Amino acid sequence: MASKIALVTGASRGLGKDSALQLAKKGFDIILTYQTKKEFADEVVKDIESIGQKAFALSLDISTTLGFDQFTSEVKEILDSQLGSAKLDALVNNAGIGINESFETTTEETLDAMTNMHFKGPYFLSQKLLPLLNDGSSIVNTSSGLARWSYGGYSAYGPMKAAVDSLSRYMALELGVRKIRVNSVAPGAIETDFGGGVLRDVAEFNQQLASQTALGRVGLPDDIGSVVAFLCSNESKWINGQRVEVTGGFNL
Ligand SMILES: NC(=O)c1ccc[n+]([C@@H]2O[C@H](COP(=O)([O-])OP(=O)(O)OC[C@H]3O[C@@H](n4cnc5c(N)ncnc54)[C@H](OP(=O)(O)O)[C@@H]3O)[C@@H](O)[C@H]2O)c1
Repeated sequence: MASKIALVTGASRGLGKDSALQLAKKGFDIILTYQTKKEFADEVVKDIESIGQKAFALSLDISTTLGFDQFTSEVKEILDSQLGSAKLDALVNNAGIGINESFETTTEETLDAMTNMHFKGPYFLSQKLLPLLNDGSSIVNTSSGLARWSYGGYSAYGPMKAAVDSLSRYMALELGVRKIRVNSVAPGAIETDFGGGVLRDVAEFNQQLASQTALGRVGLPDDIGSVVAFLCSNESKWINGQRVEVTGGFNL
């Protein structure tokens, strides 16, 4: 049987990388993206190939729609020439960074950057990719625990993730006619390069967040990727339009 195919944005590192690997373990071929770290993306391609699946890395800047037509053509070219003219079965909108800045000093430029990266980018990239998605496919948008609770310094970031949760519901509603499911995954605090890796590298901060978590630690990338892979698979075929929080029980 032919492999299913997933496109995962921002999979050179962190949560996107783990999602791509977990999807490959479930039998998906992967098209993954990076923004600057091509060498990291090439390593992820090798890791996926060693699992026994095909993988291809493409460059993408999610913060501007200018490159989306070109990117969509590149995805189509890979599907046609390398993957037997198949279409995508899953899209994981994951790419992005956070900014910690007080409400008082956040500039219009910073707010625009967060809007473009976390809301406008996934909105129009998903729209562009619709013709390349199979009916019955699954879209996972990456939200954040910060859409449910507030943490000082994230006023330009958390509300964008709340918008992602809302967008997932609207997409699920309108794309249901094609049996395309759309859900959000909302990770809590996870040890990645996010925020300069502060959560992973500053022990005091790490412990403070662990103490607010029912399971007593902060998250690791592999706490998230398996949930993303589940939501992309048929095992979750009746989960649609949902925000799935994956935090170990943070701020309950
Ligand atoms: N870690 C957490 O605690 C946490 C919690 C909740 C939600 N999230 C969300 O999870 C997602 C992934 O975060 P992460 O922790 O895995 O971060 P990460 O380790 O810093 O990885 C970020 C990924 O996004 C790519 N990227 C960055 N800017 C981009 C841009 N403008 N266009 C396209 N790709 C870009 C990076 O590519 P390069 O490697 O090429 O730079 C990398 O692959 C983000 O949406 C984030 O908001 C993270």
